[in-house]
Amino acid sequence: MTRREGMTLTSAGYYTSQEAPIVSDNPVPRPRATPPDVLRCAYMELVVTDLAASRQFYVDVLGLHLTEEDDEAIYLRSTEEFIHHNLVLRKGQVAAVAAFSYRVRAPEDLDAAVAFFTELGCRVERRAEGFVKGIGDSVRVVDPLGFPYEFFHRAEHVERLSWRYDLHIPGELVRLDHFNQVTPDVPRAVSYMQNLGFRVTEDIQDEEGTVYAAWMRRKPTVHDTAMTGGDGPRMHHVCFATHEKHNILAICDKLGSLRRSDAIERGPGRHGVSNAFYLYLRDPDGHRVEIYTQDYYTGDPDNPVITWDVHDNQRRDWWGNPVVPSWYTEASLVLDLDGNPQPVVARTDASEMAVTIGADGFSYTRADQSGEAMPEWKQGEYKLGNQL
Ligand SMILES: [Fe+2]
Repeated sequence: MTRREGMTLTSAGYYTSQEAPIVSDNPVPRPRATPPDVLRCAYMELVVTDLAASRQFYVDVLGLHLTEEDDEAIYLRSTEEFIHHNLVLRKGQVAAVAAFSYRVRAPEDLDAAVAFFTELGCRVERRAEGFVKGIGDSVRVVDPLGFPYEFFHRAEHVERLSWRYDLHIPGELVRLDHFNQVTPDVPRAVSYMQNLGFRVTEDIQDEEGTVYAAWMRRKPTVHDTAMTGGDGPRMHHVCFATHEKHNILAICDKLGSLRRSDAIERGPGRHGVSNAFYLYLRDPDGHRVEIYTQDYYTGDPDNPVITWDVHDNQRRDWWGNPVVPSWYTEASLVLDLDGNPQPVVARTDASEMAVTIGADGFSYTRADQSGEAMPEWKQGEYKLGNQL
């Protein structure tokens, strides 16, 4: 018996099914308390070691808009944003993530967040208005997976810059799209996130049902956050959206002209998962930033869940380009509520990099073909260390 029962194989090669509660053999208990009504991922607070270098990367190169700055922190937003910021760069000793922050629908949802996470036995702190500039009072928790989550409702409004074409650059970043988190036990993480009110849109599994990654949303896009299987808790990336593919190509061209091509880690390319066009960059501290465009609407209650086979070599890149090893292995530390790095726990389930590249270094196959089906010249492309 495999987990594929109940799934429909589509003409494009992935499977669909209707969402069901994720089964975990080590679940986070489901609280009796009603979860807060989360609207969307709203901002990330990043600790950076060189504020000037980070400012140069995020403002001068990527063109995020400066809302406010002081000697300790820089508050940036994307073009369409009307709340104070989508990214806080805060100066610190250790590069890490201080908060994954979500906006909730109403002030009462902060009380709901306190009740929900208190029942889970998590450390929960109310933070007074002004703790983060531009943000009203908030609730910060270390969630059951070890991530610093924040919930807020009230926020200072600023001008939406969509009509200010005079300020736009060819690679304009228009929205914060999603977070991506690394965690050892993906089904445990997804089950907890379902209890928090998130809906699953896509995942990557093998035939035995091992889950390697999953994508979850509140707003009606493919995701507000994703869980990537690996040593965690760590932050895999934070992602901003552009309007079009050509905006992403313009960012690549600009980085080339600035002789900063080293900042490009992976892509540009087309994802299988999410169908989005993508690019992965690394900031001066190594924090990974994705640029992304053109995923799809997911807001109907019966939106089909898409499952990709882990051996489908088009799941991560629709054109079949290999994923660089650093993308699988490297991620940012996350902080507890005192600002100390959270300990990292090793994944014990199979790693996606290991099962897709194989012990021999090149047994990268499609799910329905043997290794020999791939041309010899293509096999080497997937061998670690084989890229020139
Ligand atoms: Fe992403």
